[in-house]
Amino acid sequence: MARQFSQQQLRVRPSSKEEAVVAAARDQFERTLVTVRGQLVGSVAALEHPHKSDSANYGEVFLRDNVPVMVYLLLQGRYSVVRHFLSTCLDLQSTAYQTRGIFPTSFVEEKGEVVADYGQRSIGRITSVDASLWWPVLCWYYVQRSGDVEFASSQKVQRGVQLLLDLVLHPSFEGTPVLFVPDCAFMIDRPMDVWGAPLEVEVLLYGCLRSCCKLMDLAQTNVRSRLLEQRLVVTRKWLHDLRLFLLKHYWVTSKTMQVLRRRPTEQYGDQQHQNEFNVQPQVIPPWLQDWLENRGGYLIGNIRTGRPDFRFYSLGNTLACLFGILTSPQQRALFRLVLHNREHLMAQMPMRICHPPMELEEWSNKTGSDPKNWPWSYHNGGHWPSLLWYLGGAILLHEQSNPSADVLLTAQMRSMLEECYWSQLNQLPRQQWAEYFDGPTGTWVGQQARTYQTWTIVGFLLLHHLLRVNPSDVWLLDLDGQPQEHQGRKKAEATASADQ
Ligand code: GLC
Repeated sequence: MARQFSQQQLRVRPSSKEEAVVAAARDQFERTLVTVRGQLVGSVAALEHPHKSDSANYGEVFLRDNVPVMVYLLLQGRYSVVRHFLSTCLDLQSTAYQTRGIFPTSFVEEKGEVVADYGQRSIGRITSVDASLWWPVLCWYYVQRSGDVEFASSQKVQRGVQLLLDLVLHPSFEGTPVLFVPDCAFMIDRPMDVWGAPLEVEVLLYGCLRSCCKLMDLAQTNVRSRLLEQRLVVTRKWLHDLRLFLLKHYWVTSKTMQVLRRRPTEQYGDQQHQNEFNVQPQVIPPWLQDWLENRGGYLIGNIRTGRPDFRFYSLGNTLACLFGILTSPQQRALFRLVLHNREHLMAQMPMRICHPPMELEEWSNKTGSDPKNWPWSYHNGGHWPSLLWYLGGAILLHEQSNPSADVLLTAQMRSMLEECYWSQLNQLPRQQWAEYFDGPTGTWVGQQARTYQTWTIVGFLLLHHLLRVNPSDVWLLDLDGQPQEHQGRKKAEATASADQ
């Protein structure tokens, strides 16, 4: 495949229709919003589907699909919708003995009843872990932006946080700081050999625990018990261990690979080991050499005894920047890797969800011959336009927090981001805001893609907002911000009535 695409090939020409496209996208977005108990609560996953007669759940409110929706609503000051969403999710937090504390993957109001899916209705009966981990992050974004400290310190929120923490902070057989999950437990919700400790889940766990600490810190001082103080101590220690674990076992560069390839194997005993997971050098895939080039770095997809997953997962890596797992120099190494592998990761439709795809026998064995996850399609190397804004957020946040670091790289990333933005702007309206794109260059609309997919539309609007409307709004994504108390509260009150 040619390494360089010309501007023409990449479909990145600036378009004079920018304003019209943005206005139309805003209208489409408004159509995705639905109510629960008479009040706007969030968006359905998609407005249209190629097989309208089937019973797919695209008409439901997915927690993960509503992450960009909630961020966008916060940027518009529509706080009451976000609060209602957070509160509805809390009402739906499971109380069943075996799933106590988990949040549903999706919910919908049917004949006046709110019906939630915890996995018992989903295709393959899979359960999602990411929905539960996203909730505290979204709640903290809301509190930070709106200044609604009252909500954060309420018994309802504080209780929800404790229930969720119960799912994580407990003894386990392996005693590591990672959360073990089955296959299909996050955005990649069909078999893709992503069981164990997949990057996206572990990174989200980190964001979740950081947000839980922020929320617990806001518990009213008069009701702060010794138990809560202990929880804070344990959670902070967990966070510290989790970050070290991820940096030690997932972060790779050309330099670390040279060391990994020459490590001893079969090490027994409790002294410091170089190869705790007994990884044989033969499992290191050859494509990694060019992928990493000299100065690139990224977090691999999973670590398991003897079988690390070296695939590149866009969302996990991007969130690792936003949540502060990667240091600034590591983030720059990641950006260099993205630039170097642009023809794979961006190609015609930014950006690819996971690279490289599994083919032939491997596809058959690891996906259970899933035709939806055919090589270069859907989760298996497909392109998801909804992922681009996360990377955009990471680039812009890095740029604003490190204004004088590697200006050349920053300029290159900026121009790549601009080109990707034009590429989406020129194609998405024509392709009816499809869910995903297929093929090695991501040119074809996904074979089973829904159209007018909410996170495609709102992801584009978010990127437009961060590039054109207010770049400093990217600070909303920084978990270390302080709640903007008074100003936000007043705004929240003003918008509350408008969104009823
Ligand atoms: C598919 C995607 C999942 C998404 C859902 C709703 O199942 O794999 O990530 O949340 O559709 O859009």
